[in-house]
Amino acid sequence: MATEVAGEQLAGLARYGSVHLLDEVGSTNDYALGLAAKRSTAIVTARRQTKGRGRFKKHWFSDDGSLTASLLLFTDGPDFPHPSFLTHLAGLALSRAVEEVAGLATQIRWPNDIIYKDKKLAGILCEGRRHAVAVGVGLNVNQESFPEDLPDAESLRVATGRTWDKLVLLESFLHGMFAGIERAGKGETAQVIADIKNHSAVMHRRVEVRTLLRKHVGTVIDLDTEGRVVLRTDSGRLVVLGAGEVRRLR
Ligand code: BTN
Repeated sequence: MATEVAGEQLAGLARYGSVHLLDEVGSTNDYALGLAAKRSTAIVTARRQTKGRGRFKKHWFSDDGSLTASLLLFTDGPDFPHPSFLTHLAGLALSRAVEEVAGLATQIRWPNDIIYKDKKLAGILCEGRRHAVAVGVGLNVNQESFPEDLPDAESLRVATGRTWDKLVLLESFLHGMFAGIERAGKGETAQVIADIKNHSAVMHRRVEVRTLLRKHVGTVIDLDTEGRVVLRTDSGRLVVLGAGEVRRLR
């Protein structure tokens, strides 16, 4: 099935890199990383993914109602932020895009889930090979409902009562992402982290953080300059975590 996109909209996206509009793909992250040999920034978006991946190798549900996209970047350019920081920049850019386009104030559940009223609107998965990174974004946009096994999923349509143009959201995300990369490249990481804290769903909250090795329970007292969570555990220890899966506790 062909995807028709207005020339103006395509030109808007093409300002950020070569644009690949696909009907169906296994995973847009894999497709984007497959373009890495060309050494140029690319944007890949697909109507459907058959093998969408989430964090921790989980299956990622996506259908035609989702914005499914990957941004291929190269991390060896001058003033490029550390790859681990991209995930935080992407969370902020996506939260802002949703606010700018749909007027919905969302929160970032560290490190990069976008939530609305405790339900998940979007997830981000950054995957790299050598100097190339695919910043993969899955945003639930126009779904009216979700499969029963996803009780915590939310879409913009359910939250706002109307449908939204996925490519307008993508362009706004790209704008925010490149603005963030520029800020971080100029050394403004502290200000970026301050913005992330303002959107954070976990700051000063009691949480459980599951890492690959163990589970930590405590209160988030800070995000450090690298975007790592600083947790005061129930036993009073300070733990700094760079990755993990967070659940908010009451
Ligand atoms: C998560 O919350 O676990 C992250 C989900 C990331 C999903 C996106 S959809 C586009 C890109 N392609 C993938 O296979 N995964 C990411």
